[in-house]
Amino acid sequence: MDTVLSGIRSTGNLHLGNYYGALRNFTRMQHENKCFFFIADYHSLTTHPDPKILHGNVKNVLTEYLAAGIDPEVSTIYIQSDVPEVCELYLLLNMHAYLGELSKTVSFKEKARKHKDNVNAGLLTYPTLMAADILMHNADKVPVGKDQEQHLEMTRKFARRFNNMYGVEYFKEPVAYNFGQELIKIPGLDGSGKMGKSEGNCIYLSEDSKSIEKKVKRALTDEGPKEPNSEKPECIENLFTILKVVSTEEVVMHFEDKWNTCEIRYGDLKKQLAEDIIKVTAPIRERILDIQNDEAYLHKVATEGAEKARANADKTLGEVREIMGIKKF
Ligand code: TRP
Repeated sequence: MDTVLSGIRSTGNLHLGNYYGALRNFTRMQHENKCFFFIADYHSLTTHPDPKILHGNVKNVLTEYLAAGIDPEVSTIYIQSDVPEVCELYLLLNMHAYLGELSKTVSFKEKARKHKDNVNAGLLTYPTLMAADILMHNADKVPVGKDQEQHLEMTRKFARRFNNMYGVEYFKEPVAYNFGQELIKIPGLDGSGKMGKSEGNCIYLSEDSKSIEKKVKRALTDEGPKEPNSEKPECIENLFTILKVVSTEEVVMHFEDKWNTCEIRYGDLKKQLAEDIIKVTAPIRERILDIQNDEAYLHKVATEGAEKARANADKTLGEVREIMGIKKF
């Protein structure tokens, strides 16, 4: 069985794009692999160091992962900062990470450009901390989006370098977990290509039905088709893409027909779309509300998760220290 590690930064609520892009696949994947899901709160400090919201954000992600179907009896779910061993591995890996390669990382250059007043060392060494997360569990596979591929490549480089440097076959080189066909990209409601928090075009898993209806109603549309069987503009194609994910085939066919015969009424399409999105999110939202108020359950999940993760971390760190020549008197 492969070990899979998935990490998410704790910077807010999860939306429909996160659900179909990753979370729903995770709930299946956890039965076929040994899975670790963790919330990267240290990483979020590189750009969002705000003590007023940090804990709340971590709680949101933890709650929403559980509500969406990550099962703590099956997988290990933990908070990064509950496993301080990762800091030591990060420090040790940093001794073999070079300024040249770190400063050339695309994500570093981008963030340094955007936040000129806060180009901190944590940002520079973001890839080594991520490598420590992954190598700590000697993960085989890591589900990552396009934006994280370079970080994974660097993790492989750090692993290889460590092995070469110390003449060992210790770290595995992790590869990207590829969901292939199952990967669904959810577009925004504003005619843009992608649903994303920074784009401000999201439907959140925790959103109530009124608010979802309102957002779908306001989604961008055009004046309607002028000729039968014409091509759809992007904003309409986007609504159909979401419809295909949340609705039945009959519903999709019905609106395709209406489009093709120029009889489509966007009001009807949106009403149906909102209804079917709510069918998906309502049960998740209900569980979010339950779990949110169950401090004892959250405490139990986080504590047990940390224990399981720390057992792995402790073993890895002991072996790494040994390989590097760090010994006790
Ligand atoms: N950098 C990842 C992101 O922003 C989060 C992350 C941190 C991560 N450590 C990781 C992902 C380890 C996978 C494995 O999405």
